[in-house]
Amino acid sequence: MVGKFSKRTIKDVPIDNKTVLVRVDYNVPLDEDGKIADDFRIQASLGTIRYLMKRGCKVVLISHLGRPEGREEKFSLAPVAKRLGELLGKKAIFVEDCIGDKVRMAVKKASKNTITLLENLRFYKEEEANDQKFAKSIARDTGARYFVQDGFGVVHRAHASTDAITCFAPSVAGLLLEREIRSIRGVMDSPKHPVVAILGGAKVSDKMPVIEALEPIADKILIGGAMANTFLRVAGVNLGKSKCEDGQEDQVSEIYELAKNKVGAENVDDFLVLPKDLAAGEDVHSSHRESFNADEFPADKMALDIGDETIEQFVDILKDAKTVIWNGTLGYAENEAFAHGSARVALALATSPEVTSVIGGGDTADFVRDWDAKKGGSFSHVSTGGGASLELIAGDKLPGVEALLDA
Ligand code: 3PG
Repeated sequence: MVGKFSKRTIKDVPIDNKTVLVRVDYNVPLDEDGKIADDFRIQASLGTIRYLMKRGCKVVLISHLGRPEGREEKFSLAPVAKRLGELLGKKAIFVEDCIGDKVRMAVKKASKNTITLLENLRFYKEEEANDQKFAKSIARDTGARYFVQDGFGVVHRAHASTDAITCFAPSVAGLLLEREIRSIRGVMDSPKHPVVAILGGAKVSDKMPVIEALEPIADKILIGGAMANTFLRVAGVNLGKSKCEDGQEDQVSEIYELAKNKVGAENVDDFLVLPKDLAAGEDVHSSHRESFNADEFPADKMALDIGDETIEQFVDILKDAKTVIWNGTLGYAENEAFAHGSARVALALATSPEVTSVIGGGDTADFVRDWDAKKGGSFSHVSTGGGASLELIAGDKLPGVEALLDA
């Protein structure tokens, strides 16, 4: 189930001993003290960096971090350079700017087989404006002979470092980008059936294009999280204090129309599977979990996870699946009492070696990596992209990929 990838990669060009500019996505979560809370994206970039170093390249990395307003020290990539050096067992040189003399001098001084990380691109508003001059300065000041796009998490953005930059150096894909696209497109384009899609998270509106893309290929769609509350409320179920999204009646009926056209009205509830019961608490901080049938839900409680009967039903459905595409946790998984649904689904996938499991980025990736002793290694693919993975599943063109050289 390896999908097509129609762009040139670092393996298709004579890259040996060259200065190579690599766009990575080091937009990592920081804790209250500004320390890196999770280095998943840094770890995921190592394959390409090691490949280029083995080939004697001078590697210059660029990234954004957060959404700073101008230069804000708390969004500096300096701690990322330190962590990268620790992971590689080799110092990563950090430059306090991403254009200008400091960059020119540092790259000139650097020898082959070195890694240099430049400061946060978003300290310049030109980055998000996809500014040609800014992109040209990055390419010129780093002396890049090749541009490599490996920041999968950011390729849905048309920014200077994902789009304009490709006008100034031959541009190819890195190994992470290729793996993400082959894994996600593989399950969308030629999945082994039965295909089960699991959708959770907060909002129906965010996932509408994804649901529309999954309905034709999935054999069943299991719905959990606050998204399920919205579906249930539209169906007339009263869920007390539970979080629901307003104004989604049309979206939900559109999803049901598509489902009816595919499986017939009589089978629609077997195809779009909503929770029969829900685990509730007083609020998101509750440590006490109690399951209630959806149609007997108490007015003073909040649904925070799929209920115990629904967990068994979902796990049972997953036993037959050959392909599982999972995006969105099934409850308020930050609180252990309401992580049961997501944890049982993770366990079902991790203990079924014959199932191809592709897990969307963002909260779902954080959850499964935290849950998994192998840090995500128990699944076929855990994406580093949040918005990018959703857009890829939805079949959208990704500007940062489109701009690369065709294979
Ligand atoms: C992400 O974390 O999804 C990417 O790094 C993109 O970041 P952005 O949403 O701030 O553009």
